Amino acid sequence: MDKIRIHGGRPLSGSIKISGSKNSALPILAATLLTKEPCTIRRVPDLSDTNYMLQILKHLGAEVERASGTVNIASARIESIAPYDVVRKMRASVCVIGPLLGRCKEATVSMPGGCVIGDRPIDLHLRGFEALGAAVRVEGGNIKVFAPKLTGAVVNLRGKFGPTVLGTDNVMMAAVLADGTTVIEGAAQEPEVVDLANFLNKMGAKVEGAGTRRIIVEGVKELHGTEHDIIPDRIETGTFLVAGAICGKGITVKRADAAHVTAVTNALLSCGYRVETKADTISVFPNGTSKPLEISTEPYPGFPTDMQAQMCALLSTTKGISVITENIFPQRYMHVAELKRMGAQVDLEGSTAVIQGVDHLLGAPVMASDLRASAALVLAGLKAEGVTEVSRVYHIDRGYEHLDEKLSELGAEIERVKA
Ligand code: EPU
Repeated sequence: MDKIRIHGGRPLSGSIKISGSKNSALPILAATLLTKEPCTIRRVPDLSDTNYMLQILKHLGAEVERASGTVNIASARIESIAPYDVVRKMRASVCVIGPLLGRCKEATVSMPGGCVIGDRPIDLHLRGFEALGAAVRVEGGNIKVFAPKLTGAVVNLRGKFGPTVLGTDNVMMAAVLADGTTVIEGAAQEPEVVDLANFLNKMGAKVEGAGTRRIIVEGVKELHGTEHDIIPDRIETGTFLVAGAICGKGITVKRADAAHVTAVTNALLSCGYRVETKADTISVFPNGTSKPLEISTEPYPGFPTDMQAQMCALLSTTKGISVITENIFPQRYMHVAELKRMGAQVDLEGSTAVIQGVDHLLGAPVMASDLRASAALVLAGLKAEGVTEVSRVYHIDRGYEHLDEKLSELGAEIERVKA
């Protein structure tokens, strides 16, 4: 298994380009199943997760061509069964259920497995399908949904941890081909949901209100092929801005969308960094002493759970006491034990991390446990004295396109060590 080796302490400067969003690309690729006609999706990041999704689409019968960031998909004829072997590697595989149900009026998809960031139920997705008239059965590790016909309905998708992103996507994708109007209350407002709604509308769907808590979908008879550019990845953007804060002289991210990362740039401003935004570029600069922070993760537009681990790395070396509360996935703290091995002082109290900033971290061998935790360990390694080796790099490859190469461009001493 590959490792990433970092010689810490090199100041970062310069600029890099942000890739297309993983969490937009996954449901949008799945949504191409809703039409028989070809679709072209551009700025699809080259990641193992997007490649898994393309494998699932191929298994279902789609013809897929990929040339760098552009993917052409034609699903003239598809089947509606995605077995365990095909979907087990990625939880986001669940987002093929909505389009399969919409187009084929049935789907059998293996239940997603557990996840290191905590329990990841799909009860809200299923509640939405049932509201549209589908019968739902879970048997033999598979989710079976079927409906002779889907009928528009009012459904509230808010759960005890707030709205569900992929649940909103899934119900929206099933509802676009239902009879009548569907109202999704308690919808997720994430930019990725808006990107999907924009794509569906280009295919001929009638979706209104994406980006608000109420989405209204007026069902249509059929959808057609179209072209689409995926939005910039706001979590990759945030991760590079934190890299710039943790050890930068001043770095710039290009092809980003500043409006999507306001919670992160506000957090960096509160910590005392200087942040400048121009058109589609964002720069972060040190600005004297940095300050500790109290922050809670929230659904969009709040501070994203997908940036919590990276912020934990930054605050570990920020003088004073910082407090992070994780409200979306309360157990998402796998990075803490590894950061402590590098000298961080973090106490976990339930879903809250109390961080006593230290003067410096020391490089160490550390193990990545999930995508964002891995990014946090890389960021800590950039700051640490000496050598940090992050193993299980496949987690990083799931969601960051060329992370090591982009950090090298900024001046980091970082290399991928092939196993
Ligand atoms: N939840 C339920 N029932 C459901 C669905 C979700 O209780 O049926 C709970 C979850 O357990 C969690 C909360 O609702 O406590 C929010 O989960 P959500 O459904 O929004 O998560 P998701 O849609 O499965 C997406 C991203 C995650 C990101 C979350 C939250 C994709 C492919 N994944 O997951 O991204 O953390 O939204 O913003 O879009 C990542 O990229 O590293 C990642 C994990």
